[in-house]
Amino acid sequence: MDNKERIYIFDTTLRDGEQAPGYSMNLDEKIRMAQQLESLGVDILEAGFAIASPGDFASVQAISRAVQDVTVASLSRALEKDINAAWEAVKEARRPRIHTFLATSDLHLEYKLKMSREQALEKAVAMVRYARNLCGEVEFSLEDATRSDLDYLCQVVEAVIKAGAQVVNLPDTVGYATPDDMKRMVGSVMNRVPNVDKAILAVHCHNDLGLAMANTLAGLQAGARQAECTLCGIGERAGNAALEEIAMALRTRNDAFPFYSNLKTEEIYRSARVLTSITGVKMNPSKAIVGANAFAHESGIHQHGMMANSLTYEIMTPESVGVLTTSLVLGKHSGQHAFEKRLVDLGYGLGKEEVIRLFGEFKSLADRKKTITDRDIIALVESTSKPSSVTWELDSFVVNSGNMMTSTACVTLKKGEKKFQEVACGTGPVYASLRAVEKIIRHPFGLEDYNLQAVTEHRDALGEVVVKISDGSGIYRGRGVSTDVIEASILACLAAINRMLDESVPRNVTGVKVTSAPNFSNDMLSSHSDKQKESSDE
Ligand code: KIV
Ligand code: ZN
Repeated sequence: MDNKERIYIFDTTLRDGEQAPGYSMNLDEKIRMAQQLESLGVDILEAGFAIASPGDFASVQAISRAVQDVTVASLSRALEKDINAAWEAVKEARRPRIHTFLATSDLHLEYKLKMSREQALEKAVAMVRYARNLCGEVEFSLEDATRSDLDYLCQVVEAVIKAGAQVVNLPDTVGYATPDDMKRMVGSVMNRVPNVDKAILAVHCHNDLGLAMANTLAGLQAGARQAECTLCGIGERAGNAALEEIAMALRTRNDAFPFYSNLKTEEIYRSARVLTSITGVKMNPSKAIVGANAFAHESGIHQHGMMANSLTYEIMTPESVGVLTTSLVLGKHSGQHAFEKRLVDLGYGLGKEEVIRLFGEFKSLADRKKTITDRDIIALVESTSKPSSVTWELDSFVVNSGNMMTSTACVTLKKGEKKFQEVACGTGPVYASLRAVEKIIRHPFGLEDYNLQAVTEHRDALGEVVVKISDGSGIYRGRGVSTDVIEASILACLAAINRMLDESVPRNVTGVKVTSAPNFSNDMLSSHSDKQKESSDE
């Protein structure tokens, strides 16, 4: 590797990222995300905050069992009970790590922790020792490091390394630092802490001023060798440094950042898609690296330059981040073999049973839509999940709607072998259909968000609907695709309902997830009727 130094990528999508409103995931989704992050090649995966709730503990434990080639970390405050929980949750991982933290800025010490500097130093050392007695690998974070007194910071870093921390993280917790500040802080620790060579320094930058990425790179240039980040930059408030941006900066500007990482950048796009399909949160089209426009060249001047030589306007290729550029088209005469091969080319390693089920869905879609593109297949795979025994499924529906009448919907749902039917009215066909669904399942819910968009450009495009519903115990997302927007709406709603009724989905567990959500009312279906009507008119 030409004497280049390695950067360790510490992904905290499932901890700092998941703490952000709208990004909570259930157990299966967290495992799916963790496995994709493993395929992406992250070195350390922060799976959660084990003490936060039984749900968080269970997911850290399940991820520890589900991945092989990655270190699994759990966050813990500098408290014995937190550290014990973190250890219990990660101990079955092939490479477990306890990540414990304590704030070091005077502001946090005085107002949050009510501790003196000396007391905090003592506590940090004691807890690192305690964690090291349990776990072979311990990371210590000095929360709010960038607003901490530099002499004191150096003292704490030296002490925790002596106590056994192999990784010491210097977070810009509130996104306050500038790249110069980061260089000065990390450079000072590198120069002034005598035992710094016994540990790896990490940086963990938040994006409140839009500087997280620049600050992370500055920290690496000054000597940090672990970058803490999240996919698409999700995280507390304005988020964290984005993994894909760090990865591509290291790859594209290796002259300025002469480092290497273990990341397989070709997995970036798929990883971002897994995240958006799980969370239902749409990507900003202008998002660097993974946004829909990141490789689009609209203006004539740019297109002309690109045709003459792509280097004129393209600093990295779409292929290098795994963006699909082929557009092989399948149709109703395509066989299972061709469909299966396309799934593999798109990166979906699915079991036989799943492929057969999806092939059935593909065939019924091909009956309605002449050509099926990669984007249709992706939407199909990512919107349909294997039904479990409690799953409500759509059997059939009929709607009667027009601009001079109240819409009515008759919906039939299946639960196992049994069928249930209800009729309902509403100011639009979507509204009427969802009311009929609500009547069948006998579990009132509010509609928090409804989003409809076309998967591809053409008139026969698939409509993709993402909804968020709530029942007072939590907020649940669902996604549905169909050439019929009413059907897509019912499917999305059923996906959310099945999550709502699934016991394994955490509810009210951390406080964060529920209290940060918008207010709901059980009659939200009525109060959102206009919004639904607008969407259903399309
Ligand atoms: O932002 C922060 O300081 C953190 C620490 C807990 C590492 O997330
Ligand atoms: Zn953070």
